[in-house]
Amino acid sequence: MPKEKIITGIDIGSTKVSTTVASVSENKISVIGVSGKVPSKGINKGNVVDIDSSVEAIAASVEKAERMSGVSISNAFVTINGSHIETLNSHGVVAVSPSDTSEIDRNDVARVIEAAQAISLPSTREIIHVIPRDFIVDSQEGIKDPVGMSGVRLEVETNVIHGSATAMRNITKCVNQVGVDVNELVYTGLASSEAVLTDTEKELGVLLVDIGGGTTSVIAFLEGSPIHSVVLPIGGKLITSDLAIGLRSRLEDAEKIKLRLSNEALITKSTPSETYDEDFDVSEFDLEIERVPKSMLYKIMNARLEEIFRLVALEVTKSTLSGKLPAGIVITGGAGMTAGIEKSAKVNLKMPVRIGTPKGVTGLIDEIKGTDSSAGVGAILYGTKLYRGSNLLSFDTKNGTISKRVSKLFEKFKSFLP
Ligand SMILES: Nc1ncnc2c1ncn2[C@@H]1O[C@H](COP(=O)(O)OP(=O)(O)OP(=O)(O)O)[C@@H](O)[C@H]1O
Ligand SMILES: [Mg+2]
Repeated sequence: MPKEKIITGIDIGSTKVSTTVASVSENKISVIGVSGKVPSKGINKGNVVDIDSSVEAIAASVEKAERMSGVSISNAFVTINGSHIETLNSHGVVAVSPSDTSEIDRNDVARVIEAAQAISLPSTREIIHVIPRDFIVDSQEGIKDPVGMSGVRLEVETNVIHGSATAMRNITKCVNQVGVDVNELVYTGLASSEAVLTDTEKELGVLLVDIGGGTTSVIAFLEGSPIHSVVLPIGGKLITSDLAIGLRSRLEDAEKIKLRLSNEALITKSTPSETYDEDFDVSEFDLEIERVPKSMLYKIMNARLEEIFRLVALEVTKSTLSGKLPAGIVITGGAGMTAGIEKSAKVNLKMPVRIGTPKGVTGLIDEIKGTDSSAGVGAILYGTKLYRGSNLLSFDTKNGTISKRVSKLFEKFKSFLP
């Protein structure tokens, strides 16, 4: 492995685009440049709805991160989000290639994972991730890495995350127009899970919920690997618009009031119930009143949070995961900072709850410590896993020979084994 490799993550969200650049070595991931939050125009609920505006926002974000890091960004791991994202669990089976030793080799593993990808998806859908969960060798289950084992029949259980081919092409197109190649698209929920969840949580069973501006990306882990993902078209922007309606204010003012109230609760470490009877000074805004009871603000915010968590609870039930997630729910994403969110999640989901901030990197950590940085930092961690696993000098897989391709495929899957 060369001494250092630059890995970039671009998180394209419904409210902001943020680019994070890291210098990655054998045992350290150091953030050396961040764009901060560049307001995203042209992205709605995770989808590109205006190419030109999206390109403009991505360009501004990449440029800021380049200036800060002194690095010219030519490729990046890019997040993809939106309610078009779906998941399924697929099974693959192959006969182990006959050899002197009848040992399973990496080609067999790559073949069985390719076999698991042979699912009938409509032509409008494309696979984003195929994550091996478990291998089975001659009916023996629970094998995490079968290479070197003896056997004649190799099976794999995989979790496949797929999305709309058009949505994927549009995101890629926007990033390409800025002069940046897409190493890989990474589902926002998976990216955030890399930055926020611990291995123990993933092993025990946990639900990660990234609540952004326009979407809520959910991913469940069981026995160390993803098992179910869903994106709900609902997020923090709705909390703001509810407040604007309730206060009869402009959206910009409602957003400021929401952030100020939430930041105050964060700083004073107070819960809504402790400050429920107090008033909130809104005299600087052009409202009909100068002071608003905090109880009113909390009630409005809580109603929307309740809706979000009820929908999440419904997904848990639908995916038959009830009672299988002892590590509970980990909340991240910008709206994860909303005052009262922890309590609302606990009440509505009846599970242990924690707020997850990005971990696992050094360097400019003050700039990426908020819950809204999880997906961007996670994109870098995802890229680092691939890089360390495969020791690739470049992520370009387009020109590889077949054996090189299989080898890379194998290494990639290996990186994501629990
Ligand atoms: N301190 C805070 N308190 C409360 N809400 C906050 C805070 N900071 C950000 N938010 C809210 O978080 C939302 C943005 O979150 P985030 O940056 O994760 O979204 P995004 O990634 O752009 O969107 P998405 O993931 O939905 O496409 C906004 O609705 C914003 O109001
Ligand atoms: Mg997001």
